[in-house]
Amino acid sequence: MIASQKHLFDIPADVAYFNNAYMSPLMHSVVTAMGEGVALKQRPWTYGSDQFFTFCETARVLAGRVFGGPSENVAIIPSVSYGTQIAANNLPVSVGQTILALEDQFPSHIYPWQDKCRAANAEFRLIAKPSDEDWTTAILENIDRDTAVVAIPQTHWSSGATIDLVKIRAALDKTGGALVLDLTQSLGAQVFDASIVRPDFAICATYKWLMGPYSLGFIYVDPRWHEGEPLERNWINRQGSVDFKGLTRYRDELQSGARRYDMGEKSNPGQLGGASAALTQILDWGVANISNTLAAQTDRIEGAMAEFGFSGPRRELRAGHYLGLYHSEIDLNAFMAHLAREQIFVSARGPNLRLTPHLYCDDADEARLIASIASFFDAFSR
Ligand SMILES: Cc1ncc(COP(=O)(O)O)c(C=O)c1O
Repeated sequence: MIASQKHLFDIPADVAYFNNAYMSPLMHSVVTAMGEGVALKQRPWTYGSDQFFTFCETARVLAGRVFGGPSENVAIIPSVSYGTQIAANNLPVSVGQTILALEDQFPSHIYPWQDKCRAANAEFRLIAKPSDEDWTTAILENIDRDTAVVAIPQTHWSSGATIDLVKIRAALDKTGGALVLDLTQSLGAQVFDASIVRPDFAICATYKWLMGPYSLGFIYVDPRWHEGEPLERNWINRQGSVDFKGLTRYRDELQSGARRYDMGEKSNPGQLGGASAALTQILDWGVANISNTLAAQTDRIEGAMAEFGFSGPRRELRAGHYLGLYHSEIDLNAFMAHLAREQIFVSARGPNLRLTPHLYCDDADEARLIASIASFFDAFSR
């Protein structure tokens, strides 16, 4: 268990922030690193062209460690939508095949697949939400020899229900389909190991559970796709681009591994420096320790909220860091407004109230949350 890390953040004592799934607050260390990166642009003569690459490689190595695979397999991207498009452009799908995704899945991991199916005359199938939120079983029931791609998250962004990716991978190994993951609501707070799950592509934005800046993300690319087509025809991914003087010796060859998929203008020292500082802290805490600590907290909160009629996926089917709870009687907007008046922040996605703490939530925040929920229901029942 990790003790409260609130001191590492700029969170006033009267704010209780249970909304990491929306956006994590930046740690002081991340803001400092971002500021140092921005200062290089303030004084560009201090920003050497070699640093264009060192910032990228540092972030790539750290991201590889969080994914559980070599940095050679990691590319730097601006968003999940960008990463999903890379995967969609490279995976073969033919007439009559199927791409599977989940009902109410986040749209960045939907639109590129819908387009892909339209273009290939393939079927795009949204797997209906199982009443018990056992997505693993539902996905396995849908996989067959016609499945070209399974495009899913590790944890559902609305309910916190989690998927056994090892079982999905094993099924796809038998049928031959590809696995594309959006890890934005799990990587950094839920154990993931690319060397075991072996996704074809796994994508993650940095601004939630990787605790970094907005407009940055990573895509993990299995070596079997290292010869694929990047989204852009940019110069910085070419062999020899490190030599700025020789850039007009135009070259077709791309850099090694997943680097060919890096976005243009990737070398943003503010963004990359911030992401690296955040990843360093996450690795230092240890993802399993983060996960266990958050699980203990969400278990307590879930238990207290069950008393007021909230329910969610069975404990063994939900991710430890994530609560997405349903209540059949209350107006969620009114409920959230009640909490917000007391500076307690949560969010709603689909039919569920989403409560997603991180190590900055301490016992006092938890007590205030539960007291505020009790006062809402007190008024509600009167
Ligand atoms: C599951 C999931 N994926 C992706 C994103 C962000 O997607 P993008 O980077 O395309 O804006 C979010 C944001 O809420 C999300 O919850």
